[in-house]
Amino acid sequence: MSHQYAGKVVVAPMVRVCTLPFRLLTIDYGTDLVYTEETIDYKMLRSIKRYNDVLGTVDFIDKSDGTVFFRTCEKERHKVIFQMGTNDAQRALKVGKMVEPHVAGLDINMGCPKQFSLKGGMGSALLTQPEKIKSILSGLVQGLSIPVTCKIRILDSLPETLELCQMIEQCGVAAIGVHGRTRKERPRHRNHNDVIREIAKVLTIPVIANGGSRDISRYEDIARFQQDTGAASVMIARAAMWNCSVLRPEGCLPIDTVIERYLRYCIEYDNPFTYSKYAVQNMLRELQVTPRGKAFLETQTLQEISILWGLEDYFKIQLAKQNEGRKLLNFEMKQGKTAMPPSADHVKIVEREDDGQKFVEMPVQFVRGNFNNADLPKMILNTYVFRNQLKGPSYTHVVVDKFFCASVVVDGVSYNSTLRAMTMGSACLPATHKPFCGRLDWWAARWFPLKSKVKELELRPLLESG
Ligand SMILES: Cc1cc2nc3c(=O)[nH]c(=O)nc-3n(C[C@H](O)[C@H](O)[C@H](O)COP(=O)(O)O)c2cc1C
Repeated sequence: MSHQYAGKVVVAPMVRVCTLPFRLLTIDYGTDLVYTEETIDYKMLRSIKRYNDVLGTVDFIDKSDGTVFFRTCEKERHKVIFQMGTNDAQRALKVGKMVEPHVAGLDINMGCPKQFSLKGGMGSALLTQPEKIKSILSGLVQGLSIPVTCKIRILDSLPETLELCQMIEQCGVAAIGVHGRTRKERPRHRNHNDVIREIAKVLTIPVIANGGSRDISRYEDIARFQQDTGAASVMIARAAMWNCSVLRPEGCLPIDTVIERYLRYCIEYDNPFTYSKYAVQNMLRELQVTPRGKAFLETQTLQEISILWGLEDYFKIQLAKQNEGRKLLNFEMKQGKTAMPPSADHVKIVEREDDGQKFVEMPVQFVRGNFNNADLPKMILNTYVFRNQLKGPSYTHVVVDKFFCASVVVDGVSYNSTLRAMTMGSACLPATHKPFCGRLDWWAARWFPLKSKVKELELRPLLESG
């Protein structure tokens, strides 16, 4: 029996919740393993990996819009399980190889009942495709050095479910996560602990029981769920999302304490605002009607949330530290101590006038991962425009070959990025740089420092193609 998955308390994969800050917090509170949110194989395959020296993390960045969608660090390496959505053995193995050096295990999502998964033949759509399951799981088991698992939902009948689980076991997986509901059942439905029990009886690999959150509000309830299901381990989703200190053998902490610690990690690791807010909202639950809860609902930045939990100074200190780190890299770059990024001279700026309208064009790509939540280009531009009492900014975009070309007009001048983006948001943001800074070296300083250390992130071709 795989020791890694036996006798364990595991935090389940949860989209938007299980990002690095939440995972680290659950590790602090005693979880044995923690899953990432599900990432679709395609997304991973079009990503670039970057060692982020400022945060001390490894980042996987979406090339199309610069967002960091998987950030991890050494502290969690032996506890984090990367969950993937896939329906193809080759793609799955490629992704497995990408994450192998950074995680403790790889899990395939075979339980998601959502439309986007089903349409893509992923998640619970796989449950009725045994050959596909075999090719994906066997390929991963043979091709990777880390343990491979999958997370399923039960089928409509017990014999079918047992047959499926035995087939999965034969693929050589290290364990199987079983959510005790069928594809059609929702969280309000009773979890079929009895079915999990039957599965645990017939399999020799560890079964990780899932679906019991409704009955878990204290640490002791976790053991009760394990006994009810006869499973080797327990996987908890919503109960951990509501208050992850439920994982502490010493007992639960007040939710404000949990939120404060969570926010500290969000600030330290520059967690996206929308994710941080979503997670805190799920921790607050009925407390959203309190004065602080109402103020929280109005927040629009991580800094604003931090103020509500008394972390204003912590936010400022961390931001300054992160900015110092960025500056240092920039300085080293200028000294030639690290690889030189493309200099500002390489960037082609075209200024032209058409029908009395002034245009400024340059190739700028917005790389979300290079910005703090507190100093996003749009926010900086708004402040600049407001302070200098200029007209604008007003954003427009056109769609060319399914890509977005965006421009922003400030004080009568239209600023355009000659690079096309896959989403409108990421197309608009680059265009905000020029009017604000007026000088190329400003945005060069902002955009390039981190890249200097990152061989994979090749900006030069982008610039030259622009
Ligand atoms: C916010 C949220 C996001 C979820 N995201 C995922 C996911 O990315 N992958 C997955 O396999 N299951 C996902 N699930 C399902 C949970 O992992 C789990 O199977 C389900 O909530 C039942 O467990 P529980 O009773 O402990 O909540 C998600 C559940 C929630 C509440």
